[in-house]
Amino acid sequence: MFEKLFRKKSMASFLEASHSNKLHKVLTVQDLTALGIAAIIGAGSFSSLGEACFKGGPGVVLLFIITGIACGFTALCYAEFASRLPVAGSAYTYAYVSFGELAAWIIGWALLMEYSIGNIYVAFSWSDYFTSLLQRLHLHIPEYLSCSYLEAKKAFANQSSNAELIAAWNGAPRIGSLRIIFDLPAIIINILITILVYIGVKESRNFSNVMVALKLLVIFLVIAVGAVYIQTVNWMPLNSEGLPSFLPNGFSGVMGAVSGVFFAYIGFDAISVFAEESKNPQRDLPKGMIYSLVICTVIYILLALVLTGILDYKQFDGVGDPLAFIFEMKHNAWMQLIVSFIAVIAMTSVLLVFQMGQPRIWMSMSRDGLLPPAFNKIHPRFLTPSFATIVTGLVVGIPILFTDKTFVLDFTSIATLFAFALVCGGILLIPRKEKIEGRFQLKYINGKFIFPLMTLSTFFIINFLFPDYFKNLFVLDGNEETLKISSLVYWCLLLIMSGLAFVKNLSLIPLLGVASCSYLLTGMTASNWAWFICWLLIGLIIYFYYGMRKSRLN
Ligand code: ALA
Repeated sequence: MFEKLFRKKSMASFLEASHSNKLHKVLTVQDLTALGIAAIIGAGSFSSLGEACFKGGPGVVLLFIITGIACGFTALCYAEFASRLPVAGSAYTYAYVSFGELAAWIIGWALLMEYSIGNIYVAFSWSDYFTSLLQRLHLHIPEYLSCSYLEAKKAFANQSSNAELIAAWNGAPRIGSLRIIFDLPAIIINILITILVYIGVKESRNFSNVMVALKLLVIFLVIAVGAVYIQTVNWMPLNSEGLPSFLPNGFSGVMGAVSGVFFAYIGFDAISVFAEESKNPQRDLPKGMIYSLVICTVIYILLALVLTGILDYKQFDGVGDPLAFIFEMKHNAWMQLIVSFIAVIAMTSVLLVFQMGQPRIWMSMSRDGLLPPAFNKIHPRFLTPSFATIVTGLVVGIPILFTDKTFVLDFTSIATLFAFALVCGGILLIPRKEKIEGRFQLKYINGKFIFPLMTLSTFFIINFLFPDYFKNLFVLDGNEETLKISSLVYWCLLLIMSGLAFVKNLSLIPLLGVASCSYLLTGMTASNWAWFICWLLIGLIIYFYYGMRKSRLN
């Protein structure tokens, strides 16, 4: 039984299985970069950026840089795997060859959060912008048909000042005591996207390229026009002691924004699932991932500087459409309208990429026997994974009725970070390989001395700058307890990794990937961890009940 959990699949068998598929091979490096940007820039930048600025103040820029670096290391590891194993399935497939079947299943299960549950957040944000766009055009959707039940219920219970949510609760029709409140635009967009993905990747690709061009245009417009309104005094607001500070809520305030900021970066990895539809995946997938990540990191840093430079960071409290909001505050109606319109388009492209990605991961899992064979069924005419596409539509669509934005945002970020850390760890386990001309290869830098030295110097620098930091980690007084516990676990992990790096001459870049992704995980709250662990347990039950028994490796 123990052996079964860690049985690995060989790279050769994955490659062989992928050769038998009939997917169209049409995607070039430009398409892949565009798909990357399509997946990355969406609800994170158009929606959750506002809350992130509110929590972290101007200093949230630092979190964008840290997260960009963590994602950069992860992208390099993804690129290495994608170059060796150009098959659909992404991190799931990578875990199968490096860690074995159980870890592969766990990653596949965690990716369900990234691809499907993440899309619920995007669908909600899409609906927010869509509804307010219609409002500006004097078309009104009743409040009870444009928000989630849970949001309206919470707003009513907390006597929120959000008039729309209260109106939704009070104005909703009832069946008995049940109020009919649901987000209709979010459901409709999910149905439309499912149909588009069902029809085929080529059509979806063209659609996606146009949307990417439009969203880049509007972001540059926001940065250029917004720069005119910047008042540098906003970058040094007063902190709780009344002193001007770039970090008005301290570094813990910045770390409090980690779910929202990380969510904004999710997506560069999604293009690895298009390996089997790429013309030259070993060369183009790594390039597409890295190009799209670099472009988006620069954009995010500029956007965060513009937003916190235009308004005092406190004004972003509860703002769900920050890019339109800055222009509302500056009475620039044109920019407000353009931004709202393009936000709707930008988020459509995110929905599209993730909704295309999920069925392809399931397809891989089904080929391996871990999911029923129907998930590997390819439509005879459209050549797309038809059954898996419909199931994805249902997995995104049904929870829209029962969840709310904050919950899905936290849930998606923790699961995706977890998957990223495992992908970086996976690279440490696969044997090094000779470079093949024309293919990407991750540079090997021996971490034997460098990684332990980095750990030690970080320890001494923190101890020097904040003499009480380590002592405080052991004081559990009800104040930031989850942060303290996860920081302690994190330092133990660094020590173990330093020891392993020293003994086994581990490669530095994946080590830094694991270290930086795990660091971001320390910003998650206790309830995020609790939900995530429950989710993993459900996944394990399904694996033991179905996957382990039906695996092709039996
Ligand atoms: N990064 C994607 C977004 O922000 C998931 O919508």
